[in-house]
Formats: sequence, structure tokens, C-alpha cells
Amino acid sequence: MKAMIADRGTGEPISLGAALLTGKKVPPDASELLAEDHRVVLGWFAWYEQEKGKKVRNEIARNICKALRAHMAAEEEIFYPAVKLRTGDEQAVERAVGEHKEARRLIDELDRSKSADASQAELMLKLRDEIAAHVAEEELEMFPEFRRSDADLYALGRGVAARRVDALFEQTPAAAKARSKTGKRKTSPRGKAGRTAAPDGPPKEFPVMQISRDEARDYYVTGLKDAHAAVKEGETMVKAQLERLEQYPKLKEKLASHLNEKKAQLERLETLLERCGEKPSAVKDAGMKVMASMGSLGSAAAADEVIKNSLATLGLAKFEAASFETLILFGEAAGENEALRPLQECLSEERAMAAFIEENLRPTGMRFLQLKSEGAQASH
Ligand SMILES: [Fe+2]
Ligand SMILES: [Fe+2]
Repeated sequence: MKAMIADRGTGEPISLGAALLTGKKVPPDASELLAEDHRVVLGWFAWYEQEKGKKVRNEIARNICKALRAHMAAEEEIFYPAVKLRTGDEQAVERAVGEHKEARRLIDELDRSKSADASQAELMLKLRDEIAAHVAEEELEMFPEFRRSDADLYALGRGVAARRVDALFEQTPAAAKARSKTGKRKTSPRGKAGRTAAPDGPPKEFPVMQISRDEARDYYVTGLKDAHAAVKEGETMVKAQLERLEQYPKLKEKLASHLNEKKAQLERLETLLERCGEKPSAVKDAGMKVMASMGSLGSAAAADEVIKNSLATLGLAKFEAASFETLILFGEAAGENEALRPLQECLSEERAMAAFIEENLRPTGMRFLQLKSEGAQASH
């Protein structure tokens, strides 16, 4: 799994295992989320084949059908449009949609089967083969191709996860009843919002916005300046900490490499600003305004300085990640397509930084207490 996400080459937030350990502080990568669904459903097919109890077999078949419907809805409404947009591979998407259609036909038939009899077993076998072949195509061709694009897999993961939950909800008896009354497909409010705000949706969504490209560009430029200010502040904060972390080698190593990332981020932002006819020097004032409150935390020379600095760095990294995420949206709305990849790189770096600090809050705190108890100077 880890090797798969490394394909993107833009620096990933953290490993899947680390994400789980830290309580999923980053949303799942959309392609990993969908691949995880594949594993679960294929596992259920194997269970169905081995299971002797008719009641259980029937229950497994129902669950497979429900899970596949939800999975296919999330792919068709959220994931595939993004694949089409980012890779331009319309054929792959059309082929996949066609395979879904065939799977749905089998699922409809299975829904009509009342018990785990021979005809159900036959249909299940057919469905398993269809799905296994389809999954292989997705995981070996479509997903790797998509991961090499500059799509934000994590933002898309949020959309996929939300749509999948809604699609499961739509299949509950209560939702089906409501649907049959109104004759319409009933969608929960969250599902509706998820689709209109599909995080990686096709650009055809932009014309419905009540904002012109020029206006969006103004917000984009302001966002660039603010992001530059925040990164500059972050650079100062990281530099100040580096000198005083002898007793925390892991933290020191990470901050040293983050300092290099900060330099690269500033260069990227300056290039983008110049492209908009703005001079990076004009950025200074905005910096003071935006980060005045957070900056004071980072320089506090307190006894528990290392802890205070960790909190400030975490806050700032999250602030920067949020700025970059919004900036990407504004950049898209302004038609600044060349800006998307550099901004995406900045976003990945800040997410990774925030995740690292968060994962290390306890180890850092424990090290601090240990040093205190040993009578050493914990902040030195
Ligand atoms: Fe899939
Ligand atoms: Fe699929």
C-alpha cells in the first residue's frame, strides 16, 4: 500500500498505518479507500463460497450487493469524473462504467433472489468473476495512472468516503420507503452537499459559481501573499527551534528537512506571485498581520519551550495546509492551472509536518519529562 501511494512523487502526508494510529488525522487517499473496499468485498465472496449456513450465505450476498452499489456510486459520481479530468483517459472510465452496468444487472437479479439457493450461488459466482476482473483493471491500470497525475487524492478521499456513506444510507429500508412514496431518489443533505462541493470535481462546476475569473484571481493573489507570509513565519519558527533541540534528535532531523521544504515553498510562492505581476517584497506587511498571534508562541523562552514550540509548529502547519488547500481551489477558479502542482506539493509537505508533530506529541512530552526527572535541562 505504501509503495502504491509513493508513485505520485509529490510527497505524501504519512503512511496509512500512521494515519490510522493517529486517529485518521488526514483523510484517506481516495484510491486506497477504494482498494480497501475491493479487498473487503473479495473477502466476502470467499466467505460466501466457504459458508455452509444458508441464512448466513444469504446475509453475505445482501451485504456484498449493498457494498458494491455504494462503492460504484462513489466511483461514478466522485472518483471517475476526477480520473477523466486529471488523466484525460476517457476510454478507461467508459470501460469501467460499462463493467459497473453489467455488475449492476447481476446485483439487481441477486436482489430478487429470496434465499441462498443454487441460482443465487450461480449469480454470485458470475458477479465475483466480473468484480475480480474489474478490480484488477482499476488497481493495475486506472489507479496508478491517476496517482501519477496532480490530483489531490486526499481531498478526493473525503468526497468518496462521504458519498459512499450516503449511498449506503440510501439503501436502508426507511430511505427506500421514502423514495417509493415520492417516486424520487432520496438523498441525504450531506450527500447533496458532497456532490455540489465534490472536492475534485470537473471544471464544468465553475460556471455555476457567481464569481468571475478576475474576482477569483484577486482572492488567489491575496491567498498567495498570505501563504507566503505564513511560510515565512514558519521558517523563522523552525530556524529558532533547530538551535535548541540537541536532546530531541528525531524532532531536530525532521525540522531540519522541513526548513529545506520551507525554502522551496517560498521559492514556489514567489514564482507564482511574480507570474501574477506581484512582487514578493510587498508580502512582508501581510505577514505581520496574518501571523502576529501565532508567532509569539514560537519564540517563548519558557522552561517547557520544546512543548510550546511543538504546539505552535503544529498549529502553524495546519494553518498553512488549510491555506494551501483553499489556495488550490482559488487557483482552479482563476484558471491558474500551472499553480496547482506546486501548491499541491506545499500542501502535502505541511500535512506531513502536522501529522509528524501530532504523532510525536506524546514521545516528545515523555522525553521532556524524562529529562526533567534526570535533572537535565529539558529544553536544551
Ligand atoms: Fe472499484
Ligand atoms: Fe469500479
